[in-house]
Amino acid sequence: MKETIDRLRSEGSERIKAAATAADVEAVRVALLGRKGEVTLLLRALKDVAADDRPAMGSELNRLKVDLGDLLSVRDLELSGGSRGDAESFDLTLPGTSPSAVGTNHPLVSVLESICDIFYGMGFSRGDGPEVELDYYNFTALNFPDDHPARDIQDTFYIDKKVCLRTQTSPVQVRYMERIEPPIACVFPGRVYRNETADASHSAEFFQIEGLVVDENISMADLKNTVDTFVKNFFGADEPTRFRPHYFPFTEPSVEVDMQCMVCRGKGCGVCGQTGWLEIMGAGMVHPNVFKAAGYPEDKYTGFAFGMGIDRIAMLKYGVGDIRLLYENDLRFLNQFRGVL
Ligand code: PHE
Repeated sequence: MKETIDRLRSEGSERIKAAATAADVEAVRVALLGRKGEVTLLLRALKDVAADDRPAMGSELNRLKVDLGDLLSVRDLELSGGSRGDAESFDLTLPGTSPSAVGTNHPLVSVLESICDIFYGMGFSRGDGPEVELDYYNFTALNFPDDHPARDIQDTFYIDKKVCLRTQTSPVQVRYMERIEPPIACVFPGRVYRNETADASHSAEFFQIEGLVVDENISMADLKNTVDTFVKNFFGADEPTRFRPHYFPFTEPSVEVDMQCMVCRGKGCGVCGQTGWLEIMGAGMVHPNVFKAAGYPEDKYTGFAFGMGIDRIAMLKYGVGDIRLLYENDLRFLNQFRGVL
């Protein structure tokens, strides 16, 4: 039997090599390994081999069967176009095809996240609230008198008498304070809506980030320091900031915060309208009526709040001249921020 095995091994591999078509390969497979193939018949004849020789013969035969099977498969692949069976033609070190379009964050999202990161560094946490908001949280709890012009249908998108699209992120202050006892240091970023005609500096939807710090003995100096730390970290330079007196129903005193124009460094240029200053946020000390609406005890806490337009900050930082560019999703615009932010 040993001789037969050796003969089949050499003859078999010759026949496989000689096969010129897939049909030839199949014919050789049948002739060798088919139900009545030579190898199969030999396997059957194994029972007649002397018991002492049987294990050795059996394993020889099995190896032959496996090897011939492998050779048949390889030949089959070679004939069917080949390269898959031809290991040499693979260059596994070649770089793959990179996908042509991979998504990235929108510049507004990147700016929002990097603003949040700066506040996390100062110990703030993050919260959010609904975009479809009750008139109560958007206005009443924020100490807006009933006849305040901001409630006017002109500015606010109303869903019905009591429900509107929030016009600012400030309502989240109240929602948060209803649930959480001071000390509080939290930012609330999100989308807001106003019924405005779109132009280069107005959009009916835009983003704000609200900040709220409440504890015993929080002062306006804490607000100033927080704003300065933010400006320094976000704009990278030590631009001074200034507070201008202003009015918001939910803060007292209220201010608008300007930073020195980082383009002209205060000299006056087109970006700052020749004033040397850029307005970056509204802010102030939380009004006692807002604490009352949140259910806090009278006179126990003080706090500050601020609200910043994220679009405006992004436009200032990246020299974007028209807010509408941020909402049109034109890839020619968006691709400029790829890998930059
Ligand atoms: N909500 C105000 C606005 O949209 C900004 C602001 C927030 C002012 C917090 C004071 C305190 O203009």
